[in-house]
Amino acid sequence: MDTTNPELNRIIDAAQTPDEGRVENTLRPQSLDEFIGQQQMKDNLKVFIEAAKRRTEPLDHCLFYAPPGLGKTTLAHIIAKEMGGNLRSTSGPVLERVGDLAAILTNLSEGDIFFIDEIHRMNHLVEESLYPVMEDFELDIIIGQGPSAKTIKLPIPRFTLVGATTRAGLLSSPLRDRFGIINYLNFYGEDELRAIVARSSAILNIPIDPAGTEEIAKRSRGTPRIVNRLLRRVRDFAEVKGTGTITRDVARMALNALEVDTAGLDKMDRMILSVIINKFSGGPVGIETIAVAISEEVDTITDMCEPFLIQSGFLSRTSRGRVATPLAYAHLGLKAPAPLPPAEDLFSSQ
Ligand SMILES: Nc1ncnc2c1ncn2[C@@H]1O[C@H](COP(=O)(O)OP(=O)(O)OP(=O)(O)O)[C@@H](O)[C@H]1O
Ligand SMILES: [Mg+2]
Repeated sequence: MDTTNPELNRIIDAAQTPDEGRVENTLRPQSLDEFIGQQQMKDNLKVFIEAAKRRTEPLDHCLFYAPPGLGKTTLAHIIAKEMGGNLRSTSGPVLERVGDLAAILTNLSEGDIFFIDEIHRMNHLVEESLYPVMEDFELDIIIGQGPSAKTIKLPIPRFTLVGATTRAGLLSSPLRDRFGIINYLNFYGEDELRAIVARSSAILNIPIDPAGTEEIAKRSRGTPRIVNRLLRRVRDFAEVKGTGTITRDVARMALNALEVDTAGLDKMDRMILSVIINKFSGGPVGIETIAVAISEEVDTITDMCEPFLIQSGFLSRTSRGRVATPLAYAHLGLKAPAPLPPAEDLFSSQ
């Protein structure tokens, strides 16, 4: 995603950068066993895949909901591999017309996996034409115009739709209800992130010691894509300024130089927190106001920064707006205002 504020070109932006595709493909886990973390979801998926295979049926349609970089596309690839079907990928905004959808659907084979990324951004006509396809594997096509128009039902081979979205809230309920398997991926824990650092460094042949592994894991904001990106940037520092091996010291020096702090926050995250605290007395303040104050787009803040800030306890979202937590004050080295006494105490001395 492009940021509007060029000052904030982020090393820890969880979105894929254009040059990252190739290296991501080499690092992508190829099977559920190689996929680190999200244990409960993996266990369930294994059962559903095994059951579908035993019945020689396609897997039910699957929806993956997660912030960027947590493994949605990877899981679509893995499902195709484990089910032995071909993967056809597209994304919501690319499917502009029903004809675009029809062209793909009519070329699918039985058991294929059709992956729609950013499925919440599909045009509503395309989305509606997908409903009967998901339910009955029939696409309604209108032929002709006006009173002589006719609807024909085109049979579609039985396939599995895999949808990915970063915004479950933007998905319409008729669409969501048509998925049999719905999974929410959460940010990864530190042990899992360490395992991902270790796996990626082994694949890329990067010498790293356990303390260096820990430092990168701690600062990668719970996101495998950021683990992989920081690992490659820290390697550069290790090669140019160190002995080639990533140690704790090299990792700290590199991550400080990249302005990623000990909690994994970068300039933009800190700017959001400091604007809420310094300009709006800690909040509550609306997201649009924050966006204007830091010259950033609302979507960038809600997609890229907020989920992690909320998950790690720096920010809370209330009906009246965003509020900086005491942890945010402490992280920025500021003193949090004393909490207001309960209402009855305010009057007790009178
Ligand atoms: N569980 C995991 N174990 C190991 N590596 C992972 C895992 N999940 C993701 N990765 C790595 O992180 C990278 C990003 O993952 P992926 O492309 O699947 O994210 P995504 O959720 O589709 O992101 P986006 O929302 O931007 O499309 C992958 O290249 C993969 O190497
Ligand atoms: Mg993806």
